[in-house]
Amino acid sequence: MVTVRAPATSANLGSGFDVFGAALGRPADVVHVEKADRTTISVTGVGSQYIPEDPEKNTVGAVAEALDAPAHIEIDKGVRPASGLGSSAASAAAAAVGLNELYDRGLTREELVPIAAEGEAVVSGAAHADNVAPSIMGGFTVARADGVTAVDASIPLVTCLPEIVVSTRDARQVVPDGARMKEVVEVVGNAATLAVGMARDDPDLVGRGMNDSIVTPARAELITGYESVRTAAFDTGATGVTISGAGPAIIAACHEGDRRSIAIAMLDAFDSVGVDARAYQTRIGRGAEIF
Ligand code: HSE
Repeated sequence: MVTVRAPATSANLGSGFDVFGAALGRPADVVHVEKADRTTISVTGVGSQYIPEDPEKNTVGAVAEALDAPAHIEIDKGVRPASGLGSSAASAAAAAVGLNELYDRGLTREELVPIAAEGEAVVSGAAHADNVAPSIMGGFTVARADGVTAVDASIPLVTCLPEIVVSTRDARQVVPDGARMKEVVEVVGNAATLAVGMARDDPDLVGRGMNDSIVTPARAELITGYESVRTAAFDTGATGVTISGAGPAIIAACHEGDRRSIAIAMLDAFDSVGVDARAYQTRIGRGAEIF
């Protein structure tokens, strides 16, 4: 048997829609894989009642098939489904790393990214790699059609997850079909600033680079309290605030000493609009780990 812990992730980071991703120190999924004649899946943990155990409908079933690695797969969910924290990706990433090890397939971490992304297609309808890439490789990742670039970073973060459900499918439906050149130029500038900030491990540059005027404003409408939570985080020291992935989680970049006050302010802001939430004080961290 092989056991793998794969972290939650934050995709997009505002300016890097469908491209940027970051591994979060917590929460994480833990997946156990054991050789079997055919693939079976059991799911426990946070939100497990919403996750299908049918291999045809679960992200990890597609991963087992792609690796030709039938197994009994036990998923212990630490990442809530439909959170914007890469829940399905964490399971797919853990399964890809675990089955690669169990069956001695010898694939590199980078080669496992498109395989885990097949699992994402089962859930969201499209094979995005912007969550599976950081969950497998760790750090900050840039996922392109022709491969992934990863860089180590340890930017302090607060993620705040409200008790609201936003499905990735719904959040993709509000993405605008196009953008004005002025907006594109601004977002490219922000994305480049963010990438440089990650390479320098500089929370100020990363925060400044999170701004996005194309996708984020449309999606913010789906998250009750988004503007007041964002303002509260900035008022308590956040260097940048945006939607995590497709939402509803909101992510703030910051300096280490500000995490606690930002977390409290974000929770209070959700509370003031009648929304329960939980906050994770974390940082950009490692990718999937085999125990
Ligand atoms: N980049 C994707 C999105 C991540 O924002 O829709 C969610 O899977």
